[in-house]
Amino acid sequence: MKPKGDQERYGIVAQGFHWLTLGLVAAMFAIAWYMTGLPLGPEKVKVYNLHKSIGVVIFTITLLRLAWRQLSPPPPSGMNGLERFAARASHVLLYLLLLLQPSVGILHSWTANFPVVVFGLFTIPSLMAPSEALKKIFAAIHYWQSWTILGLVALHASAALRHHFLLRNDVLQRMLPIVPRRRRTR
Ligand code: HEM
Ligand code: HEM
Repeated sequence: MKPKGDQERYGIVAQGFHWLTLGLVAAMFAIAWYMTGLPLGPEKVKVYNLHKSIGVVIFTITLLRLAWRQLSPPPPSGMNGLERFAARASHVLLYLLLLLQPSVGILHSWTANFPVVVFGLFTIPSLMAPSEALKKIFAAIHYWQSWTILGLVALHASAALRHHFLLRNDVLQRMLPIVPRRRRTR
């Protein structure tokens, strides 16, 4: 497997970013749903800090991933018309949400007057004054954005599985570290 992709498939680095992101985003939902139900106390603070830290990692690797994408562009899409537009639009939205969701989480923490401590190593200095009104707005955005991410990922994964199992082309295989066996046409 080459680090950079080619005309046929994503390279191993882009694939690594993609599947690592899936793992981290899944962990974020599990942690989030667990932490919000915890009673106030040191355990809650610990788990919130873990959620925030992994969120900062997701933001950082998304920036690195977008930079890498400039050096190693994705293989050309073989899809046409509406399908190609839908695939591109959903990828742009997913990238946007991977940056927006952590950003809004940070704004929420700042305005709620809670520090953003990353793995106990350093604190992201707050750039906003505490505000009850803004805190509520950011919490609501964070909440609704999380459901948007879930919905979009469900659509995105179903589309990939449809290509693989129903249309029987190589769309899923080119994001996997195995030799494509199928036609490139979609
Ligand atoms: C891609 C990254 C992230 C995802 C997918 C995500 C997802 C979630 C979800 C699903 C919830 C539960 C919402 C609810 O049921 O009320 C939540 C809550 C929360 N998240 Fe995140 N989050 C991310 C990043 C961050 C970051 C970077 C921070 C802060 C630095 C953060 C701070 C919070 C806080 C403080 C809550 C609790 C909100 C409340 O109690 O109302 N999140 N997050
Ligand atoms: C089971 C879950 C998933 C499957 C089966 C899957 C599958 C795929 C496949 C096959 C591609 C390549 C599409 C193409 O060549 O046109 C792709 C691209 C992409 N996926 Fe996923 N994915 C999953 C989860 C996720 C998650 C959780 C995210 C982010 C939240 C995500 C974000 C993206 C993005 C942004 C691209 C575009 C990559 C680029 O061209 O730069 N995926 N995915």
